[in-house]
Amino acid sequence: MRIILIGPPGAGKGTQCQRLVELLRVPHLSTGEMLRAAVRAGTPEGLEASWSMEQGQLVPDSLIVGMVIRRLEAGDCRAGFLLDGFPRTLPQAEILDDLLERRAMSVDGVIELAVPRDELVRRMLARKRADDDPAIFSRRIASFEEQTAPLLEYYGRQGKLACIDGLGTADDIFSRVKSATQRFERGFTGR
Ligand code: AP5
Ligand code: MG
Repeated sequence: MRIILIGPPGAGKGTQCQRLVELLRVPHLSTGEMLRAAVRAGTPEGLEASWSMEQGQLVPDSLIVGMVIRRLEAGDCRAGFLLDGFPRTLPQAEILDDLLERRAMSVDGVIELAVPRDELVRRMLARKRADDDPAIFSRRIASFEEQTAPLLEYYGRQGKLACIDGLGTADDIFSRVKSATQRFERGFTGR
């Protein structure tokens, strides 16, 4: 299965993907994790990305698209993948669709994790990642609302979007995520 998780910072994309990999046995591709690894390794891409990440802004499409394409070309993605944090802009989504179409593939479904802002802030304050500083976190939320939220309409129009309530325990949310993937398997999505 080829599934995308979309949600604001702190929505639980990584948490749910960790559970989903066990269920679906496909790799978890988190662009945030890929970028943090590149920053730690001091690669040219990491150096280019670090300033934007520290500011809570998106890194350039060209940079992230190159990284994702290389990762999708690896053999373990042939049977499917879970994309967490990608695509995040309309150009990224269009490039992904083109890439898959050229290989006679497509995204099976998109899961939106909907979580209100006060809960996102509460989760961020309980964590200690470098970009979890309150001012940076506000910018990450603004990037989501301005650049990523339009993707919900993009995938909604394709009939691929399942909107899931991201409040509750991680286990509660996982049962909703699981039902959405079962609907994707049956070829039905809708909202
Ligand atoms: P990225 O790493 O993707 O960060 P993010 O989208 O801001 O999301 P988070 O990882 O903070 O949250 P999450 O939804 O994964 O939630 P999690 O499961 O961790 O991106 C970082 C940066 O990289 C971006 O700002 C940008 O600069 C750059 N970038 C990445 N992709 C890019 C792209 N495609 N284009 C351009 N730039 C890109 O949970 C959060 C916390 O809440 C955890 O502590 C968790 O334990 C807790 N939690 C989870 N579920 C629950 C629950 N149900 N109840 C209570 N707590 C919970
Ligand atoms: Mg994450």
